[in-house]
Amino acid sequence: MEPSQLTQIAADARDAAYAPYSKFKVGAALLTDNGEVFTGCNIENASFGLTICAERTALFAAVAAGVRTFSGIAVSSSHAVCPCGACRQVLNEFNPTLDVYLGDETGQMVTKTSLDRLLPEAFGPDNLR
Ligand code: THU
Repeated sequence: MEPSQLTQIAADARDAAYAPYSKFKVGAALLTDNGEVFTGCNIENASFGLTICAERTALFAAVAAGVRTFSGIAVSSSHAVCPCGACRQVLNEFNPTLDVYLGDETGQMVTKTSLDRLLPEAFGPDNLR
């Protein structure tokens, strides 16, 4: 799948975001190795610290469905923002070199980067062997 298409899917997933406190809506679309896409959005909570980001919502949906191999993730918000540190760490667990596409609310891809650039020298599963 083209990065631009994945970014558009992330922008569509953003519509479901539950962000009454920050008003900052985020959508994510995670591409699996066999071409399937899992989407996510941020889900906030009155107990603010329990908020979950769009990226982790998408990843956890995929893993819960039995899928663990990913090639890319697109993230869309009002402007292109990078995944937070917690999401970088959680994504690193499954693919340290994941492609990362950042898009705006129109679904336009603004930047392409990769997880190893966003989280260099990561701590991961190999460190526990
Ligand atoms: N958020 C995400 O969903 N993903 C990110 O990469 C950055 C932040 C959410 C969490 C919170 O609901 C809102 O954006 C403001 O931080």
